[in-house]
Amino acid sequence: MRVVDHPILGKLPEGRTVEITFDGHPLEALEGEPILAALLAHGIQRCRTTVKRREPRWFYCGIGRCTDCVMIVNGIPNVRTCVTTVGAGMKIETQEGLGRWERADA
Ligand code: FES
Repeated sequence: MRVVDHPILGKLPEGRTVEITFDGHPLEALEGEPILAALLAHGIQRCRTTVKRREPRWFYCGIGRCTDCVMIVNGIPNVRTCVTTVGAGMKIETQEGLGRWERADA
């Protein structure tokens, strides 16, 4: 789902389409849109799992305050995807619990 004609903000401006990957699957996204919006446009509604009970989480505040939307972005865990914009070739991964860091020398 993507809002292309908002009653207050108007029509969505034309944007450059870029390719990102989500859990290893290629997806098209609009360059500069929030990662969360790109995932939602593809029907994805799960960012992470909780640390203790491994329950799925999606976004809550949508403005960078709650950390419910954190994911692993380009190997870096705990990135707030509601306020991080899409760039070409980004690698987005569902974060399980506290996430994991990719080793730079691996
Ligand atoms: S949804 Fe709250 S920080 Fe992203």
